[in-house]
Amino acid sequence: MKTVEEFKVENVEAINLGFSYFGKPYMSVHCYLIDGILIDTGQPLMRKDLIKVLRTKKFNKVILTHFHEDHSGNAAEIKKEFNTNIYGSHLTMNNMAKSYKILPYQHFMWGRTELVDMEPLPEIIEGENLLLKPISTPGHSKDHTVYYEKNRGFLFSGDLFLGDKIKYFRRDENYNEIISSINKILRLDFDSVFCAHRPQLKKGKLMFKRKLDFLLNFKGEVNNLYQKGYDEKSIVKTISNKEVTIVKWITFGDASLFNMVRASIDLN
Ligand SMILES: [Fe+2]
Repeated sequence: MKTVEEFKVENVEAINLGFSYFGKPYMSVHCYLIDGILIDTGQPLMRKDLIKVLRTKKFNKVILTHFHEDHSGNAAEIKKEFNTNIYGSHLTMNNMAKSYKILPYQHFMWGRTELVDMEPLPEIIEGENLLLKPISTPGHSKDHTVYYEKNRGFLFSGDLFLGDKIKYFRRDENYNEIISSINKILRLDFDSVFCAHRPQLKKGKLMFKRKLDFLLNFKGEVNNLYQKGYDEKSIVKTISNKEVTIVKWITFGDASLFNMVRASIDLN
């Protein structure tokens, strides 16, 4: 099933793309357009549908939050079709310049990203009527970057938010870096969080604070058990949070509560 949903919040246009081989899409992906700037490019499996929608829009720049295929997936095609530059952090540029392995579930859920030549992010991205500030927020991935629009209090947060009560981590996510990145953005003044998967159009900052509290409590509980001699497996069995078996199964363990427990343990 394919779903394309569009909505507008003030001067932000959202394009929400869902794809699944059967049943309702598990996790849809939002691209955002503001003042001629397209933020993220959706999953490769929705390429034709996105291009069709973008033909009805006006934009002259594309910026990426990170290299994961549901964000970078159509950058190469958009560059070709609309003759626009694609901007991103140096790490995102490097990731998009050489081919990398993706797991079977990533093929199945999103599809493979085509490589693309990108331009480095300026310190400030200028639209016609506004400025966006890129802020490096590693943790979900090393190259993760959010974009901040100060005057309206908008944060285009890529995958930094995702939810206030996180149920699983990818194997390559860094727990402490995510906490530092959230602390960093909490120093900013914003209310609307344009998350790529679960937008929080009001009280977004409060939701980030809730996520931070949740991550700190979880980490405290896990480390308490770890210091008592519990290993990761027995911690997973003991804590009240439960493994989402279907996610662990589909991703062959790339996304799991076990990874979240492991990532939250302070080894020294
Ligand atoms: Fe991601």
